[in-house]
Amino acid sequence: MKRISIGLLGLGNIGAGTYKVLEQNRTHIEATTGLDLRITRILELDQERDRGFTVPPGVFTEDPSAIFDDPDIDIVVELIGGIEPATSFMASAMKGGKSVVSANKAAIAENYELLTETAASSGVGFRFEASVGGGIPLIGAITEHLCANEYTEMHGILNGTTNYILTKMSEQGLPYDDVLKEAQELGFAEADPTGDVKGEDVANKLSILMSLVFGKRVRPEDIPTRGITRITPEDFREAAENGCVIKLLASAFRAPDGTCECFVQPSWLNKTHPLAEVRNEYNALLIRGNAVDDLVFYGKGAGPFPTASAVLGDVIAIARRL
Ligand code: HSE
Repeated sequence: MKRISIGLLGLGNIGAGTYKVLEQNRTHIEATTGLDLRITRILELDQERDRGFTVPPGVFTEDPSAIFDDPDIDIVVELIGGIEPATSFMASAMKGGKSVVSANKAAIAENYELLTETAASSGVGFRFEASVGGGIPLIGAITEHLCANEYTEMHGILNGTTNYILTKMSEQGLPYDDVLKEAQELGFAEADPTGDVKGEDVANKLSILMSLVFGKRVRPEDIPTRGITRITPEDFREAAENGCVIKLLASAFRAPDGTCECFVQPSWLNKTHPLAEVRNEYNALLIRGNAVDDLVFYGKGAGPFPTASAVLGDVIAIARRL
């Protein structure tokens, strides 16, 4: 059995979910992949919190160099979130010859060139499936199975927190603040949910997709973005009277001359539209390729376990090649 040592940066919601899924599915992963995946070091300041499992002695560290300088660590999994120090940590790990897996859409959207170029020049793997669409394997599909296509447009529901809020407000008439609190308790929202509700989290994800789908680098701050903070019960009523629902949509188009347009905004969708039935923390992406035509990806876009599924899928993909 091939043994792979993992250094985990951050044991918050997603880090703990990843740790649990790895332990829960260890026998299955070993049997199907022939890989013995071990989290040997964890960078975390809050080591006392009850996460429902015990980390063995000597695994926790508060010193990032204990991971970057450990010659036995093959893969660094970055789950601390935020732009810094996450970007510097990922770049240091790559320069030290370690492959990196990350779920950090903010850092990747902001520093896409730096991170992809550092990985390439260091000859290491860099995968970030969990950064867009949580558990939905859409980056792998877009960059691998569908890469013969030229894409012309895409539309996504890419934030679990806001989709959860919109669903509960429109279907149950619940107040915005109560539903946001629920989404936070369920582990969907960011530590500071402002970026979720203002649409910035979706802009980060759309920025990453613009690079992968259209080969266009669009910085998140250059994407026209409106969130859901000003939606009222009256808006839901008006949409329903017209046979529509309200969704926070990320949309992008590529014209035949190669110019692209993209934006994030709450939009009316006819109830018959394939994205209209996407409820709660589910995400979806409708993408149009010139060979495959329309495809819709659907699944849980937030939450510790779905996100852990994507993180561990990336770890296994890299580990198989090591
Ligand atoms: N806060 C994000 C969301 C987490 O609600 O979708 C997943 O990226």
